[in-house]
Amino acid sequence: MLAMNKFRILGTTVFVIAASIVITSCKDKRSTGWEYAPNMYEHTAFDPDQANPNFKDGKTAQLPPAGTTPIGFKRFDYPNTKDGYEKAGLEVTSLIAQTPAHLAEGKALFTTFCSPCHGITGQGDGLVVQHGYPPPPSYSKGQSSRGGAMKDLTDGKIYHTITYGVNAMGSYASQVAPEERWKIVMYVHHLQNL
Ligand code: HEC
Repeated sequence: MLAMNKFRILGTTVFVIAASIVITSCKDKRSTGWEYAPNMYEHTAFDPDQANPNFKDGKTAQLPPAGTTPIGFKRFDYPNTKDGYEKAGLEVTSLIAQTPAHLAEGKALFTTFCSPCHGITGQGDGLVVQHGYPPPPSYSKGQSSRGGAMKDLTDGKIYHTITYGVNAMGSYASQVAPEERWKIVMYVHHLQNL
């Protein structure tokens, strides 16, 4: 019995291998082969870069109407200029509740994203600086390169800086979400008083 089974298994394996060689060998090299569920590849929806007769300009990718805000997107309509920075400094204030939990989250985020340069206590002595990076001014004792004392930087100015960066400091807009930025701002205010 066992010997019979062995032959059967062997026979089936040889047949399957032979069949797959026959099936796969005589194909047009450029063909994608047989598609299982072709709608996964050739779907009925338009691709963003496809021509589209349903719109006046014939394109699928349409610009959103002027003034629209995507769901969940927090607007910050201040440009990356000195004027935008000053204006945000006057007009923009924190959107989040000033709670100990938010401060603790701000501390954790600051430690991750900012302390490598600014230092754990915001004195501008982080690890990267110890290896030769230009030191940022101390939050409590330094002067801002854009005028005024660092300890007087307002909500809007700090938020603008995290969003766009300034000189040797890059933008953190892609790493840190708006709510997280506000938590970091809260913690920077704490460090301004050290
Ligand atoms: C790669 C190093 C580096 C990192 C990381 C960094 N900064 Fe800076 N930051 C600097 C330097 C350098 C300056 C001084 C730039 C200047 O004024 O020329 C600065 C300046 C600032 C200022 C002062 C802006 C002003 O108006 O003068 C603030 C506020 C600030 N950083 C906040 C942050 C926060 C918050 C984070 C974390 C999200 C952060 N930075 C991460 C290097 C860094």
